[in-house]
Amino acid sequence: AAAWGRVWRRLRLPRACLHGAAGSLLFHMDSVIQVVEVLESQHLDGHLNLSVTELARGLGCCNSEFDRLLLGEAPTEPPDLPFLSQEQRSFFKHLLKHEVQASLVEQGVVLLPDGTTVAVSPLLAGIEAGLKGRREMPLPLEAVEPSLVTTEPSNQTRPGLPLTIDALYAVTITKALGMAFLLAQANESQVPMGPNGCWDSVYEPQNFTLLGHPSPLTDAFINGALDGVILGTHLVGQGMARVPLGPLLREYYSGGGLAGERQVRSNFRRQNFVQLTEAGQLEEQVLRSLQLLRALAQTEPLLSWAGDEELQATASWAVQKFTEAYLECPAIIPRCMWGARPYRGTPTQLKLPLSFVYIHHTSSPSQPCRTFPECAADMRAMQRFHQEDRRWDDIGYSFVVGSDGYMYQGRGWHWVGAHTRGYNSKGYGVSFIGDYMDTLPEAFALSLVRNNFLQCAVKGSKIQANYTVHGHRQMGHTACPGNRLFWEIQTWHGFK
Ligand SMILES: *[C@@H]1O[C@H](CO)[C@@H](O)[C@H](O)[C@H]1NC(C)=O
Ligand SMILES: *[C@@H]1O[C@H](CO)[C@@H](O)[C@H](O)[C@H]1NC(C)=O
Ligand SMILES: *[C@@H]1O[C@H](CO)[C@@H](O)[C@H](O)[C@H]1NC(C)=O
Ligand SMILES: *[C@@H]1O[C@H](CO)[C@@H](O)[C@H](O)[C@H]1NC(C)=O
Ligand SMILES: *[C@@H]1O[C@H](CO)[C@@H](O)[C@H](O)[C@H]1NC(C)=O
Repeated sequence: AAAWGRVWRRLRLPRACLHGAAGSLLFHMDSVIQVVEVLESQHLDGHLNLSVTELARGLGCCNSEFDRLLLGEAPTEPPDLPFLSQEQRSFFKHLLKHEVQASLVEQGVVLLPDGTTVAVSPLLAGIEAGLKGRREMPLPLEAVEPSLVTTEPSNQTRPGLPLTIDALYAVTITKALGMAFLLAQANESQVPMGPNGCWDSVYEPQNFTLLGHPSPLTDAFINGALDGVILGTHLVGQGMARVPLGPLLREYYSGGGLAGERQVRSNFRRQNFVQLTEAGQLEEQVLRSLQLLRALAQTEPLLSWAGDEELQATASWAVQKFTEAYLECPAIIPRCMWGARPYRGTPTQLKLPLSFVYIHHTSSPSQPCRTFPECAADMRAMQRFHQEDRRWDDIGYSFVVGSDGYMYQGRGWHWVGAHTRGYNSKGYGVSFIGDYMDTLPEAFALSLVRNNFLQCAVKGSKIQANYTVHGHRQMGHTACPGNRLFWEIQTWHGFK
């Protein structure tokens, strides 16, 4: 850990100014909430007889045959919206269609205050399922016994009771997950999930460009789907058909959390989704979604020949990979999002898998960062210090842990860092932002490394299964990672 005397300013993002230079609305959740609030005030005043989600469906969101079966019919006449400005109208319509263009620009997504990005359509689908109180819906009989299936459905899928599908999961994540893996099974060059992307500007977000080969299940789509499940579950639980969405979205994305629960915010979507989702439930629901799709008239050609056993195998593969990558692994904010400057010189590649993980604290900044703008500013300040004062090529750490629910990419999984002199090519350096001589990081931040990061690194073959965790002080003359944090990590699996 670097102790340094330099004073840095915690740069804060200016209160989102919602219009870009060209006058168009910025692709930020604040702009979405602004439009939602206009629509809801019109709804309240009796000028609009549709809720925001019904309106969105009338305009083409979440309106496939599959969605209509589970959410009910959408308004057929696309409503006229005289009370929205021209730019608000085109912004709203643009957002309802999720797709990736050939240029790798992902459309239908917005930047959130927490530094992550969501696709709007699965989010709205989940909210609509919640508002309609749709969870368990009967699966049509022909879904399980399709005339085109040649293999006999096994008894397990025909237990004699009507099978049900969970509409909330189906319209958000499970259909998309099943289809993505079915496509990847049929085409070896098609990746099933990911990737993340970068905004052209965090201050004036307009274009979001993916960081690699596109899949239908981008990180932003998955974020939107998980948020849709979390918000939908909240709404079903409250039985609140008339709840205004503007305040709900504010609480969840930029406020104190749903119903005042600090942990029920977008920052903790992975943890919250895991809590809501029983083990095994997800796999069954992916299967049910694929069965229902197969039963629909204009279905995917890929599905028409697939028997229940094949669908079961696809569901099982999909849920295993999804769970590892998006539920067990921590969400890591990429360099482009915290405003990293380029690496100086030529980085050296690590030889994976590594055997060690070295735990650090930053010491200064001495205070934990609790919001994305604070954590991003800390990352920039540390990189500046390491590059300019220490004359290193880049920020020293492999990964950095915020107290906002996220980890931040330093040098990342593949490049040798500058964190633990003499051992930089042997292990990853993971640093908690703050000074932990006398206090501990938040329990959720500790858990992110202890339970998520280490497991993720093993499953991803980044570290050996028999890895060793050391505190920085075991490797050199330093107090890092602080007395209190050092005691704590001695209880961790793999500590020696
Ligand atoms: C909603 O308003 C439109 C005209 O603005 C009207 O055609 C439609 O019948 C109304 N729907 C309901 C359910 O009242
Ligand atoms: C299905 O169940 C029936 C009666 O419960 C049984 O007779 C039959 O052998 C079972 N079929 C399979 C393939 O297990
Ligand atoms: C397979 O996937 C790749 C990558 O997405 C795509 O370019 C190609 O057209 C697909 N091939 C077929 C036969 O669909
Ligand atoms: C965003 O992408 C569109 C095309 O998708 C392009 O016309 C526009 O210039 C881009 N804007 C910026 C700020 O790069
Ligand atoms: C850890 O596992 C690797 C490969 O399984 C093995 O080569 C290595 O000797 C093990 N290290 C220790 C310290 O047990």
